[in-house]
Amino acid sequence: MTNLKTVLIGGGTGFIGTALTNSLKHKGYVVKIISRKPGPINMTWTELEKTGIPSNTAAVVSMAGQNIFDMTRRWTPGFKQNVWSSRVNTTQGLANAIKKAAEKPTVFISLSGVGYYKPCDKTEYSEDSPGGNFDFLSELAANWENASKLDTPDCQNVRRVVIRSGVVVGRNGGVVQQMYWPFYFGVGGPVASGQQYFPWIHISDIVGLIVFAIENKNVDGIMNGVAPQVISNKDFASALGRAMWRPAILPLPAFVLNAAFSEERAKIMTEGQKVIPKRTEELGYKFKYRDIDSACRECIRVT
Ligand SMILES: NC(=O)c1ccc[n+]([C@@H]2O[C@H](COP(=O)([O-])OP(=O)(O)OC[C@H]3O[C@@H](n4cnc5c(N)ncnc54)[C@H](OP(=O)(O)O)[C@@H]3O)[C@@H](O)[C@H]2O)c1
Repeated sequence: MTNLKTVLIGGGTGFIGTALTNSLKHKGYVVKIISRKPGPINMTWTELEKTGIPSNTAAVVSMAGQNIFDMTRRWTPGFKQNVWSSRVNTTQGLANAIKKAAEKPTVFISLSGVGYYKPCDKTEYSEDSPGGNFDFLSELAANWENASKLDTPDCQNVRRVVIRSGVVVGRNGGVVQQMYWPFYFGVGGPVASGQQYFPWIHISDIVGLIVFAIENKNVDGIMNGVAPQVISNKDFASALGRAMWRPAILPLPAFVLNAAFSEERAKIMTEGQKVIPKRTEELGYKFKYRDIDSACRECIRVT
């Protein structure tokens, strides 16, 4: 019989994975992580291929991915391939392991990104809006999502959930960690014009959504992992500045980012989508941080 308390997380050693692991352990789950490095609670991707998913696995979460903004890596074809395969192949590996498993988990949750939707000033995107077919990052999102499909008859009772995450706002990683020191020294500000949308979610809510998907039998399909408050990049910079009691007026010009990162990946910051969590809320998820001010205050609070 399936032990409902074991969760297997592919790529669970990072920013979101660490927060998810802590939350699951706090709730009494056993967590097993698939990593490139072996460790006490880790299995490697090669081990997964050889031995399959551990018995008693009730939920599988896919969140591995080469950091797109690794400053030490140029945006070369080789690095792009790494960005792609670290998401698509790992997710495919987990889907294959579920298909092969004699004892199936109840749910397979895979992260994706709002880069699926085309940046636009006017269009509002909900989960059933089209996308995934206009540039490298959108095609990556679509292929990443497709890799999680469980299209064999014996998997029909395994729920498949895809969470299209916005920029994750949390004190221990991601955008807040990248922007902390420039803001601290008073040289923070919006990116480019700051008018572009900034789809975001607090780390407690991306973790909360994954736990919600694990625990609720009615949850399957696509969910937008974005907070209800739609903001611009400038709104985010102002909220972070207010939370830190620092000015947020010095814009970071697009040409600097394009030169540092190449235009194709700098787009994640210089462009944005208006995304709403329509289905996520319809399914009953209650956001803990609905507005960017409270989210930024939480990130900066002194513990
Ligand atoms: N943070 C955000 O704002 C955000 C927004 C939207 C979507 N996402 C997606 O959510 C996922 C988790 O995000 P995160 O912020 O927690 O990322 P993260 O801190 O960079 O962690 C991702 C994990 O992926 C594994 N990984 C890295 N490079 C890999 C490679 N080349 N091959 C296989 N595994 C690799 C690493 O685990 P090991 O070193 O243990 O192997 C790492 O701990 C990522 O796929 C990311 O694209 C994140």
